Amino acid sequence: MSGAGDGRRLLAVNLKDYLGAAETADWVGEVARRLPDAEARGDVEVAVLPSFPLLERAQRELADADVAVGAQDVSALPGGPHTGEVPAALLAELGCRYVAVGHAERRLGLGESDVLVAAKVAAAVDHDLVPIICVGEPDPSDAATAAKTVIEQTLAALEETGAAEVVIAYEPVWAIGAEEPAAAAHVLEVGAAIREELDPGPHDVRLIYGGSAGPGTLAPLNGGYDGLFLGRRAHRVDGLLDVLREALEPRDSQHRRGGLL
Ligand code: PGA
Repeated sequence: MSGAGDGRRLLAVNLKDYLGAAETADWVGEVARRLPDAEARGDVEVAVLPSFPLLERAQRELADADVAVGAQDVSALPGGPHTGEVPAALLAELGCRYVAVGHAERRLGLGESDVLVAAKVAAAVDHDLVPIICVGEPDPSDAATAAKTVIEQTLAALEETGAAEVVIAYEPVWAIGAEEPAAAAHVLEVGAAIREELDPGPHDVRLIYGGSAGPGTLAPLNGGYDGLFLGRRAHRVDGLLDVLREALEPRDSQHRRGGLL
């Protein structure tokens, strides 16, 4: 498992279904115009997860800007007689690199089980998509209790998947759509527990944090996390650019600002 800093970092933006088609096109166009070029971004990878019908357009418009595209969900089933499903093979054909799996809004809102999440992760990996596996405790609790829940979710999600590149997005459910992200000390403690559980192991893992993440979230986490899973705070391109700027700051100044030094 790669630790923070020794692999590529990731800022992934989940557009959910907040933006319509025209708004998504505007957002994507603005990102393509304003994002610093790939060389200036160094080891920080940027990925965008729009709604299914907008994937192809996003992929086309962001390819030159070296921004990866991902889907917000994937079918656990292969292509075939499954009306309404979107299989991993199709997402791969459309140029997706990532797919979010097991987002809290699907686990809780749509009743997705650990078994279904594991099947989706396996389907994604079978088609060379990198799953962003979302895990998080449903209610506020101490870090040890939260860690137990998220480790169970993580191991269940990886149950059907051998050696593969994966991203674990630790997203405390109570911090999603909230005013503030979870406290850095809590996030760091849970993150350390996830890393300890998976290391050593067959998976090439990056660990990111999500849940009301935005400008100011990454700096205090940067020793323990490889990036962020961004929602609302990046739905304005300025928010994404601010977060990217922070990610590019030298780590010692981030630690000072985050109060860790
Ligand atoms: P939020 O969403 O930043 O808008 O809370 C994050 C997520 O659900 O991934």
